[in-house]
Amino acid sequence: MLTAPLLAPLYRSCPPVAQLGRFELLGRLALGGMSEIFLGRDPSAQPQGREIVIKRILPHVASDPQVRAMFMQEAKLSLLLHHPNVCSVYEFGEVDGALYLAMEWAHGVSLRTLAARARAWGGLPPSLGARILADVASALHYVHTAADEQGRALGIIHRDVTPDNIVICFDGQVKLLDFGIAKPTQAQLQHTQEGVLKGKLGYISPEQFRGDPIDARSDIFALGICMYESLTGQPLYRRNSHYETVAAIVLDPRVPSLRRARPELPPALDEILKRALAKDRDERYENAGLMAEELKAFASIEKRSVRSKDLARLLRQLFPQELARGPRLDRSPAAMNSGQSWSVPTKSYIKRKDGSERILDVSLQVKLQRRLQQRQRIGHILGSLLFFASLTLALAAWMLRF
Ligand SMILES: Nc1ncnc2c1ncn2[C@@H]1O[C@H](COP(=O)(O)OP(=O)(O)O)[C@@H](O)[C@H]1O
Ligand SMILES: [Mg+2]
Repeated sequence: MLTAPLLAPLYRSCPPVAQLGRFELLGRLALGGMSEIFLGRDPSAQPQGREIVIKRILPHVASDPQVRAMFMQEAKLSLLLHHPNVCSVYEFGEVDGALYLAMEWAHGVSLRTLAARARAWGGLPPSLGARILADVASALHYVHTAADEQGRALGIIHRDVTPDNIVICFDGQVKLLDFGIAKPTQAQLQHTQEGVLKGKLGYISPEQFRGDPIDARSDIFALGICMYESLTGQPLYRRNSHYETVAAIVLDPRVPSLRRARPELPPALDEILKRALAKDRDERYENAGLMAEELKAFASIEKRSVRSKDLARLLRQLFPQELARGPRLDRSPAAMNSGQSWSVPTKSYIKRKDGSERILDVSLQVKLQRRLQQRQRIGHILGSLLFFASLTLALAAWMLRF
């Protein structure tokens, strides 16, 4: 079997299916209510042709002048953020009427996917969960306290801390994605698809539901929900109706307990969770930095701190196929042309004998290249064997002469 590092760069040779300014687009990674996400390549970046992610605001959303103004303002702020656990934004702009952000590609799996895989063992191991959550808490603290060059507080609140927006990369880094840019307002949220709304409702703080002005402690509440869900493998505030979800968060005074769901978890972790999930924000951690410190202290008391290389190894063991296959990309013309004005080069189409066209599928191409590489390796091995056999024969013949 080929090893993952040999396969990882294969999608690099994949032909682009569209162009956005100087960026080559390889396919669509995700489609949300407000934006769509593409994997792309920046031919002018170092290392050359580095993969990037493009987030494009959907055309019907971008046509709202208020959204445009908000996007520009927030995208500018995101350029100022530099933290190892925050997915970096490289640039933003507008091409052919499309508002976009170009950012770092967090190549890995979401905390939701990792937690779902870990359900088979009853939830994430506590030291692993603590390490991931400590990284996210550090990222949040950095962002909450970030200031501009003049030292003025930027006042950023994430507003969408969910297990989908936390990525554990194959190199063992933890990244928080999807910062306050182009977030739907409560009114817009009503118009997003039912599933999207339901998914997000279960991470909203009581004060946000009440319509109070929110602060960084709403993000801490949401991180507490991520902590509960990843360590127990169960959803916390997902109910059958919106009303029941809101009632569980706002009206039910009980603060959830990790140990009620998974009694073998250490009490110290439960204490951290309860402080993050307090209904009254004055009882929560004052800032995410304190939560990060307590999570790190937990790991050091347990003497089981998880290093990035341990995380990377674990991910390689748990998701070998995902790593070898590369990301799932939708390269269909419909996905690439869901808005106006993308230039779709024809070179990425395969022409069939009957004259119809088909987009070259990434997974198909990766398979073909993998087969080619396998053949090349077998060729190399056979070649080397032949070379050594003839060398041995020649040596034997030479020795027999004496
Ligand atoms: N920089 C990135 N690297 C890797 N995957 C990303 C990146 N940005 C977004 N994604 C993927 O696309 C999904 C949706 O993007 P996101 O920015 O979270 O938008 P939304 O506002 O629709 O949630 C994410 O959950 C993630 O799977
Ligand atoms: Mg998201």
